Amino acid sequence: MSFDLVNAQSYIPSFDILFEKYPIKRVLEFGEGEGTRYFLEKTSFVCSVEVIVSENHYRWVDKCKESYKAYKEEGKWEQIVIIGGEVLKKVDINCQKGVQTELREYEVHLKDILETSMEYGPYDVAFVDYGIHMRADMVNLLFNKVDIICAHDTGVSPKIYGWDKISPPNNYKRQQFKSEYLGTTFWIKDVV
Ligand SMILES: C[S@@+](CC[C@H](N)C(=O)[O-])C[C@H]1O[C@@H](n2cnc3c(N)ncnc32)[C@H](O)[C@@H]1O
Repeated sequence: MSFDLVNAQSYIPSFDILFEKYPIKRVLEFGEGEGTRYFLEKTSFVCSVEVIVSENHYRWVDKCKESYKAYKEEGKWEQIVIIGGEVLKKVDINCQKGVQTELREYEVHLKDILETSMEYGPYDVAFVDYGIHMRADMVNLLFNKVDIICAHDTGVSPKIYGWDKISPPNNYKRQQFKSEYLGTTFWIKDVV
């Protein structure tokens, strides 16, 4: 696999702390890659969700499938591939330009992605780090569906990812365990 490993996985020191504090067995990750191996080694089950909005994503899915096939055979890994339609492609392009689209125009599609992703649940943690840029919206949808939610890149590009839109309910507390340039933020439910 080839991308900037140091930055792409800058969330790992924060997760190291999370894993020390909480007994985490099952992880849902939006966005797969080299970091998937970290979660596979640390937990008993990982479901990786890849939302395809460009040709590159197909190659990425195949690469990840090959890399983690032994874990799949062991029953430790599932890969869910969702082909994003025209609406998601358009919204994602807008996000990349820092232009937000009215949520009602695409919320149903994100809800469908989440519903499909819950197929292998329940999960202890959901990690939002996917290639499409509607990350804040997915964090909002995950509240009260997964007890620990994390998003990567929360320290950068607020207009692209929409970080200001995150609106946690009162039963979740926002936490950052490590300061790092790209930013790794957790929202943890009070009961955990
Ligand atoms: C930054 S990666 C992070 C994924 C995962 N959390 C990790 O740390 O490995 C997020 C997304 O970028 C896309 N991506 C990253 N590198 C890619 C590559 N070399 N080719 C195609 N897509 C890539 C994939 O859609 C992937 O899900």
